[in-house]
Amino acid sequence: MSGPQRQVDGLLLQSGTLLRDALGRLNETGLGILLHVDASGRFLQTVTDGDIRRLLIAGLTLDSPIDHVRDSTSITAPDGIGDEAALALMDRHSIDQLPLLDGAGRVVGLYLRRDLATRIFLSAPHMSGDEMDFVRQAFESNWIAPLGPNVDAFEREVAAATGVASAAALSSGTAAIHLALILLGVGAGDRVLCSSFTFAASANPILYQAAEPIFVDSEDGSWNMCPVALERALEECRREGHMPKAVIIVDLYGQPADYDRLLPICDRYGVPVIEDAAESLGSTLRGRSCGSFGRVGIFSFNGNKIITTSGGGMLVADDPEITAHARKLATQAREDVPWYEHVELGFNYRMSNVLAGIGRGQIARLEERVAARRAVFDRYREALADVESFVWMPEFAGSQSNRWLTTATLADGLDPGDLIADLAKLDIEARHVWKPMHMQPIFAGCRYVTAGGNRDVAADIFSRGLCLPSGSSMTAAQVDRVAEALRTAVARARRANRVA
Ligand SMILES: Cc1ncc(COP(=O)(O)O)c(C=O)c1O
Repeated sequence: MSGPQRQVDGLLLQSGTLLRDALGRLNETGLGILLHVDASGRFLQTVTDGDIRRLLIAGLTLDSPIDHVRDSTSITAPDGIGDEAALALMDRHSIDQLPLLDGAGRVVGLYLRRDLATRIFLSAPHMSGDEMDFVRQAFESNWIAPLGPNVDAFEREVAAATGVASAAALSSGTAAIHLALILLGVGAGDRVLCSSFTFAASANPILYQAAEPIFVDSEDGSWNMCPVALERALEECRREGHMPKAVIIVDLYGQPADYDRLLPICDRYGVPVIEDAAESLGSTLRGRSCGSFGRVGIFSFNGNKIITTSGGGMLVADDPEITAHARKLATQAREDVPWYEHVELGFNYRMSNVLAGIGRGQIARLEERVAARRAVFDRYREALADVESFVWMPEFAGSQSNRWLTTATLADGLDPGDLIADLAKLDIEARHVWKPMHMQPIFAGCRYVTAGGNRDVAADIFSRGLCLPSGSSMTAAQVDRVAEALRTAVARARRANRVA
């Protein structure tokens, strides 16, 4: 017997054992399950606390024998089935225990779901193993500060990886967006256009500046900002004589927005772009990296992102004056004089030299991480090709998503919440897609501009969208397990007539 399999010696019950004794044994062993066997040790059925409770409710007494238990659903597996296959079988039957039998039908082991370390996270951090060397260097040189050689090197490495001239390492992606707005002169009462379909951190800094967000709808082809809606929003602002100071365009779930169409519109109206590439490091459009399309770009290195510093962000720009100014504002806007002199309002937004060390170990593997996430996506798509319910997030011609998260909309009226709940029972973390900003109570009353007509693309994707576990460290067997769980969940939902 090996790995997480349990010994069964204390769990076997002979026929004729009294319910009282079985309860005592359940108490002693604490596993919630016993195994009823015949005189030669051959498996008959599982006996759980629930089985005994049901018999007592039905009028039997503690002095009745366990033979009254009638568990016709006991699922077993042959010894040697292996951890992954055992788990898949438990998933398929929604059970938490699996007795293992030898060739003669005798119980020789038991799998418990909780022993198989099963939880599959949406997007777990994936260390390369080199991070500790950089962190150790920071300790050994005593650079435990929000500046230092790791910070400088990490900035250069991110700039080189994304083809921008300069970068400023910050404490978060949110801080980077906040500074980007300040650097573009956004202040109280100013307008800022922003993708509605995104995480709240894209838009919250607009409120930090007491500015007015105007949200713009998505298009089906990229799930990102719709050029038609953008033009309508800009035209409305022009007519009102109140142009926005900036447009925040988000590259959602790793998919580049359609900059070939969006940037000429922004140029025509003279409004600078902040590219929120928090989720899209390593993605490209016609070979050009996400993060490099706006006047300013931002990345996030939050723990769930494609690479992480546990928490952190980066502001990138081709104009080195912008990043230099960002660094100054992020270190309390201290003037370059021998004493503490402050002309501008400053922030404590720099990345620590210790965390930048983690980032250096991570960025070196960016290409591998993108390939791994794309492979996860491909595997889901193949595994579920015959399940018509899933319409995968599009990747339009010329764009390459890092597939940070594998996302889909459900085509046939299935409720994503039902699938998420079913997967959660199997310790698999799936989530709804972001709830659009124009639907958020905190942004109630803010203007929202669609392409016109009745269609609200962002709201529609939200109502049908689902994010699947997508970490770059997921094994093929784990992706298969999630796919199998989805297949079962879809079949169950259809059976339950939850399909419109
Ligand atoms: C689209 C988007 N923008 C901004 C952020 C903010 O980044 P951070 O968590 O590093 O502040 C995130 C992620 O958290 C994000 O997904």
